[in-house]
Amino acid sequence: MSYEAHFKVWRGDADGGSLVDYTVTVNEGEVVLDIIHRLQATEAADLAVRWNCKAGKCGSCSAEINGRPRLMCMTRMSLLDPAEPVVVTPMRAFPVVRDLVTDVSFNYAKAREVPSFVPPAGVGPGEYRMQQEDVGRSQEFRKCIECFLCQDTCHVVRDHEENKPVFAGPRFLMRVAELDMHPLDGAAEAGIDRKRAAQEEHGLGYCNITKCCTEVCPEHIKITDNALIPLKERAVDRKYDPLVWLGSRIRRR
Ligand code: SF4
Ligand code: F3S
Ligand code: FES
Repeated sequence: MSYEAHFKVWRGDADGGSLVDYTVTVNEGEVVLDIIHRLQATEAADLAVRWNCKAGKCGSCSAEINGRPRLMCMTRMSLLDPAEPVVVTPMRAFPVVRDLVTDVSFNYAKAREVPSFVPPAGVGPGEYRMQQEDVGRSQEFRKCIECFLCQDTCHVVRDHEENKPVFAGPRFLMRVAELDMHPLDGAAEAGIDRKRAAQEEHGLGYCNITKCCTEVCPEHIKITDNALIPLKERAVDRKYDPLVWLGSRIRRR
């Protein structure tokens, strides 16, 4: 069954903008991205929106729907009250390029700050052996589609632009956790201390485990429970390990 919905879509650019009202037809089974496409095809041909797969897998169509960070292609219209306006705004934590498109390059910069997996010395490709439990742990984190909704929702940067230089955000702290838990990662032997970096370079201490990142993740990754809290525990263990403490004192001399 079709009905006429009231949409309020943010239109503008880096210099400013406002919500624009539209009345648009909604058909059974449609998602918010369908409605945005209908607007483009009818009364707002120049409405800017980023999307690619329409299947919840490319992570491009991130926006805020009624104030909640969501993928537009995975938000069914049937979830929303037809009597209420549907407010669609760009992700708030990132600078607007135009309309619903934001500049997410902050995330790429943070990704580059995390040193990649270091292959273990003396073990060739194809010779790696891992327990299924270890494989399963990182597989959960690898479901990430890089939609950056978790980065958008985390209060540490959402309302505090000034924290961006010192906080990698949940997505990239999760990456540090994944690598630190990886039984074959040879970073330590290569002189890379991932636990120290998590605290001193990626701002792990700013996370006060509010779990908002976990709540918005479209891949249902338990970011807080399975990555951030274990990483905090590991980093604290390192700090209070008497041998690590003694080693760091000796190295400082
Ligand atoms: Fe998106 Fe989840 Fe990946 Fe964050 S962890 S970028 S919310 S898929
Ligand atoms: Fe932010 Fe997630 Fe921590 S929302 S405060 S990174 S638990
Ligand atoms: Fe690919 Fe929405 S269009 S996740």
